[in-house]
Amino acid sequence: MKLTIIGSGYVGLTTGACFADVGHHVVCVDNDERKVKTLHEGKIPIYEPGLEQLVRKNVASKRLRFTTSTEEGVDHGEVLFIAVPTPPQPDGSVDLSFMEKVAREIAQYLDSYRVVVDKSTVPVKTGERVAQTIRRYARPGVEFDVVSNPEFLREGSAVEDLMKPDRIVIGGNSDRALAIMQKVYEPFMAPVLVTDINSSELIKHAANSFLALKISYINAISEICEAAGADVLKVADGIGADKRIGREFLNAGLGYGGSCFPKDIAAFIAISEQLGTPFNLLKEVERINARQIQRFIDGIREALWLLKDKRLAVWGLSFKPNTDDVRSSVAVSLVERLVAEGAHVVAYDPKAMDKARELPLAGKIELAPSAMEAASGAEALVIATEWPEFSAVDLSELREKMRTPLIFDGRNIFDPGVAASFGFQYRGIGRGVVTARTP
Ligand code: UDX
Repeated sequence: MKLTIIGSGYVGLTTGACFADVGHHVVCVDNDERKVKTLHEGKIPIYEPGLEQLVRKNVASKRLRFTTSTEEGVDHGEVLFIAVPTPPQPDGSVDLSFMEKVAREIAQYLDSYRVVVDKSTVPVKTGERVAQTIRRYARPGVEFDVVSNPEFLREGSAVEDLMKPDRIVIGGNSDRALAIMQKVYEPFMAPVLVTDINSSELIKHAANSFLALKISYINAISEICEAAGADVLKVADGIGADKRIGREFLNAGLGYGGSCFPKDIAAFIAISEQLGTPFNLLKEVERINARQIQRFIDGIREALWLLKDKRLAVWGLSFKPNTDDVRSSVAVSLVERLVAEGAHVVAYDPKAMDKARELPLAGKIELAPSAMEAASGAEALVIATEWPEFSAVDLSELREKMRTPLIFDGRNIFDPGVAASFGFQYRGIGRGVVTARTP
């Protein structure tokens, strides 16, 4: 099938590459000329496992191409996926100006039937607005349908999530459009859930806020564990073994970050208020999330007394492992707060160093070329992102490199007993403080 993706960011690019790989002919549109040129050369602007190879392969096989022309995109695709950014506004509600602009542009070039798909994460009822806008600006009589088809891809495993989805949600009220959408997804052989457009839009926000709720739930339990002398990892295993609950997304840590959860939870709170049905539970989810990082810093302060002029190694800057994305990264907020208290931060991340250099924070910290070099001479090590290479380090070498052996493990990557046996004072999340045991 001929498909067009408008917006070649994280979601648009991955979706376009995966569609091409299953045999569709895909045009990805983006208004950034430099990005389009780079993509044509087979280079991608983000680190996402497997994506660059997929883009190269499908550009070479001529099933995937990029353009800056929306007209070319509208002309090419029988289905037009809108995957533009939907950034947050200061009050938490979503800025839909890119959606509205693209809807007008599509209308301008529309001359025969197309299915227009809301792929971006949008508040419920946006599809209705997109349809109204296209109708208003399109030439009279031209046919189209709008459907909602949210994505559920996680950064770091986006290609796999797209290729082997748990489910595909398609929301719409036209049999013609729904049949075309079923055909688009046929090669993925995944369960398809067909709903009305509003339910489909709500599914996306409801899914992300439920996952955030799970994280805040276990983080709240982690605080209770610390007070009671229990181990949150054991509690998570114990409750997660119940199939109705499930172990995933029960990892206590510094809280959720990234370009989706914080924004989507704020947006869902704003929408529920606009609809006159305030979702106050989500405010508590946000409160617990903010509290988690604060509690962690309090713990560091408690051990070090003052942070001013302390040399702190920070491992991890990306918002989670396997991505170079530092947007709304808890690791970055943590470093900002340590720096604000006068600490001298030496940071290292396996993939996010280039993105970190572009942050305003970059001028205020030192960036080290490796985890061990960051730790060299440090008075404490702070673990902010659970990259696999961190848990694989040689703890005796680490102990030798550091000036004083303190570990603050914001992602519970080490076993407290093992860390103590190597001479570290160790504090994780929800696992108490373990003092060093001299070997
Ligand atoms: C999320 C959703 O998972 C995905 O379905 C949606 O389409 C986009 O938003 P993403 O933001 O890429 O994906 O990452 P995810 O793996 O969900 O992690 C989000 C945040 O939660 C990260 O900061 C991560 O560190 C944190 N997290 C996750 C925890 O703190 N504990 C956990 O158990 C899981």
